[in-house]
Amino acid sequence: MRHFLDIDALSPGDVRAILDEAHARKIARSGWPKGRVDTDAPLAGHVLAAIFEKNSTRTRVSFDVAMRQLGGQTLVMDAATSQIGRGEPISDTAQVLSRMVDVIMLRANSHQSVMDMARYANVPVINGLTDFSHPCQIIADLMTMEEAGITLKGARIAWVGDGNNVLTSLIHAGAKLGFSIAVACPVSFAPHQKIVEAARGQGALIELFDDPDKAVADADCVVTDTWVSMGDTNIGERMQALGPYQVNERLMEKAKPEAIFLHCMPAHRGEEVTGAVIDGPQSRIFDEAENRIHAQKAILTWCLA
Ligand code: CP
Ligand code: NVA
Repeated sequence: MRHFLDIDALSPGDVRAILDEAHARKIARSGWPKGRVDTDAPLAGHVLAAIFEKNSTRTRVSFDVAMRQLGGQTLVMDAATSQIGRGEPISDTAQVLSRMVDVIMLRANSHQSVMDMARYANVPVINGLTDFSHPCQIIADLMTMEEAGITLKGARIAWVGDGNNVLTSLIHAGAKLGFSIAVACPVSFAPHQKIVEAARGQGALIELFDDPDKAVADADCVVTDTWVSMGDTNIGERMQALGPYQVNERLMEKAKPEAIFLHCMPAHRGEEVTGAVIDGPQSRIFDEAENRIHAQKAILTWCLA
């Protein structure tokens, strides 16, 4: 069974195959209406249960549209209004859903919930974001970088801001595809040492800075994310520590002239990024958001191959 839980559990060949499939499916349906089924309809007859313990716009819509384009169907479930929200164990939910659907996507507060779902389900489970990681997002990000002409092997990707779940998945991917990651974070919001060391053990090139200028120097791509992720409570402390880590035009000038800017969204203009950068010529955020559909399709077909 192929679960899509974290990029560090995949082989470099699997990551490459998922990216190639995403690009190919996107190109093959260029200009089509968004609900038209792909010619091969590879998931005809298949049902996805997409379960959300946290809010979502992009992940929810992209998984639903992805399944429609693959010829399948989706049930979108709000955890709070299902029995999960009343304390039914994930292990029971996993076994019940495995009798009813062909694949499960879970966005969970705790990473352990996704691991438990995968442990007890008899169908593939996809991590749709947890407090630890966001692997689906990074497949879309890598796709967007390649579309912008970046050769991932040997590229320098700068991450500026909070050392959060999205960064964890970027670090995992760096180890698989051979790009280096230059991280600028305040010490109190740096990625966990264990994540960095494990990725380095898999061959990742990770540099940690507290100065954003140094991280962004000569970067092919600059990435940031919100300073306050879903579930974070220490808002005042975060705003104060992360204030010097805003991506603005002055900082973007330190990157390569052709560098692109990515943000998984939702974005907060005037906080982690200025409006001039996110709405400016280097920003690829709406390609990145669209690519969530194409990435989900490649992940779903990989899981159900
Ligand atoms: N980037 C992302 O996962 O967006 P949503 O929270 O809207 O799904
Ligand atoms: N780091 C953010 C990503 C949202 C898509 C969060 O977890 O809230």
